[in-house]
Amino acid sequence: MGYKICVVGSGYVGLVTAACFASRGMRVTCVDIDKRRVEKIKRGESPIHEPGLEEILTKVTSEGLLKATDEYAEGMEGAKFSFICVGTPSKSDGSIDLSYVTSAAEAVGKSLHLASKNHLVVVKSTVVPGTTSRVVAPILEFSSGMKVGLDFSLTFNPEFLREGSAVEDTFHPDRIIIGEHDRGSGEKLLNLYKDFYGDPLPSYIVTDTVNAELIKYANNAFLATKISFINEIANICQRIPGADVEVIARGIGLDKRIGPLFLRAGLGYAGPCLPKDLSALVNHAQSLGYEPLILRAVQRTNENQPYQVVLLAKNLLKTLKDKKVALLGLAFKPDTDDVRGAISLRLIDMLLKEGAEIAVFDPKGLENAKKLLGNVVLYASSAAECIKGADCCIVVTEWDEFKRLRPEDFIRLMRTPVVIDGRRIYDPREFSGKLVYAAIGYCPP
Ligand code: UGA
Repeated sequence: MGYKICVVGSGYVGLVTAACFASRGMRVTCVDIDKRRVEKIKRGESPIHEPGLEEILTKVTSEGLLKATDEYAEGMEGAKFSFICVGTPSKSDGSIDLSYVTSAAEAVGKSLHLASKNHLVVVKSTVVPGTTSRVVAPILEFSSGMKVGLDFSLTFNPEFLREGSAVEDTFHPDRIIIGEHDRGSGEKLLNLYKDFYGDPLPSYIVTDTVNAELIKYANNAFLATKISFINEIANICQRIPGADVEVIARGIGLDKRIGPLFLRAGLGYAGPCLPKDLSALVNHAQSLGYEPLILRAVQRTNENQPYQVVLLAKNLLKTLKDKKVALLGLAFKPDTDDVRGAISLRLIDMLLKEGAEIAVFDPKGLENAKKLLGNVVLYASSAAECIKGADCCIVVTEWDEFKRLRPEDFIRLMRTPVVIDGRRIYDPREFSGKLVYAAIGYCPP
């Protein structure tokens, strides 16, 4: 297992993949154009908050198994595998921006002559169907002067890890999907995964690149659909006395055909993946002359969802003008410091327009939020400080420490104890009797 792996891009996917490979004794070099990130990784520090990641990084860098550089040549030298894990953000029209992927492919191609014979390039970045074979392959061939399928191999291998449980997901994936560009490339990647996972391998499918690329989009689109579906049911529940979406989700989740996961109603899906991938898929379908009606409805339901909470707040307080609103949670989900595309940002925007004064707290996301929000909100250093003197508190992210707050804490600290539970972390039966409690998908009898 003494072979070398080059991982291009040290974001969530690249860094976690690299660290986990290295933890199994593989020699990994991370290549990233961001010098500050490279320096951090070299010191064994994680540039992102991800449970378990820093412990692994500290260990593998001190053992010399994981290195970091901004030089492709250094990363590719002697490497048997290279993984392209760079971001694929949205352009302003929602279509995919492939510029990081194309420049990474070009740079990998230029250093391919330094790599070991039979090198396998693996695209892990989420890309629209056709990209690996019709965009990445020609760039690699052109910049290397080599022939794919002859001098080197190419596969697409989508990533399904979730932020907040990325390390756990990497060690225990539901399945591996491999899209072969050239015959035999899938087998090469499977051999690497056999070394990584041992026996038995997780379930896997080897298909072509187009289907593997589409599996990734269909996967995220289905998850987003489940969330928008349950949010729609929640919005209906909210208008029926005695209805509670939590009970409905439990009930339908027991049907094996539906399943219990991803039926948590709330403020909608957010973050750097689901919204961007939905947009890219919708845009791609439209460019092919097809209007994806379900996916468009999923997006619209999600865009409207934060309004439900603003409506609840307005109903309870009559007006939000000059009211102090406390937001518990900024990160797009718990156990991450990532605020990209977070619902909190949209809520803040809406509440400011209503004339509210906003205090915020997040256990890990404050620093990242400050960079985006500046001084339009007040930053509290604890949940208690955030809700102190507030007229209304909105739970935006379901961090464990917020779950531990009791009705008495809100009553003691707030000016008027009005709690709006945007993530369904409190029991309505416990809260309703003691303070003014409203929640997504819950209508008091
Ligand atoms: C998502 C997918 O779950 C991963 O499989 C995929 O690899 C990743 O995108 C990606 O494409 O990179 P992630 O965005 O990290 O992962 O987190 P999720 O757990 O999927 O949550 C996404 C959003 O949906 C969050 O805002 C979360 O609060 C929300 N959500 C999730 C709900 O509102 N309800 C649910 O029941 C589940």
